[in-house]
Amino acid sequence: MKFIFTMHQNDIADSVIEAMARLISETFGEQYPEPNFPERVRTKSHPMVILAKNANEVVGFKLGYERWQGTFFSWLGCVRPEYRRQGIARELLQRQHQWCEEQGYEKILTNSRNSFPKMMILNIQEGFQISGTEMDGGDPPPTILFSKLLNDDSQKR
Ligand SMILES: CC(C)(COP(=O)(O)OP(=O)(O)OC[C@H]1O[C@@H](n2cnc3c(N)ncnc32)[C@H](O)[C@@H]1OP(=O)(O)O)[C@@H](O)C(=O)NCCC(=O)NCCS
Repeated sequence: MKFIFTMHQNDIADSVIEAMARLISETFGEQYPEPNFPERVRTKSHPMVILAKNANEVVGFKLGYERWQGTFFSWLGCVRPEYRRQGIARELLQRQHQWCEEQGYEKILTNSRNSFPKMMILNIQEGFQISGTEMDGGDPPPTILFSKLLNDDSQKR
């Protein structure tokens, strides 16, 4: 199947935010995203979304923003279950990282959890290194922190 990838940055259109929110609810449950998700996206510095489409249907996305100067944070992504294992998440990630390089970012950060092993496998395959863990309070499994230096061949597989 041939998928189309579209990039949206800075002033992200309502239709793009709605498409992401639909996929987030489908993937993570109806309590997600939080009601203030549109506002959170709009108020981030330099937000960037890549949508994957099959004809007009949005089947996956990857969202990130500038964490601070020179560093981009890859926040969230998912692919509809019936479109998985066709390379969409890898293509979204590679396009995001290519764009970050072109924008002059030096580093990309991302987080994951033990409950998302597929994403963690992909992150490691694509050059991220585990840089630490963070507890959210209480006794939940830790958040696993990933970091990737751009233009650093030693971090490529
Ligand atoms: C994680 C996710 C985005 C992967 O999407 P995808 O389009 O199926 O991924 P790809 O086809 O590009 O696969 C890339 C690699 O990820 C790993 N992977 C993906 N699905 C996997 C599975 N079911 N089992 C093991 N590894 C898997 C593999 O290494 C795969 O490479 P390969 O196919 O060459 O072996 C998708 O499963 C998803 O949306 N999951 C729920 C949401 C989520 O976990 N989001 C991340 C947390 S924010």
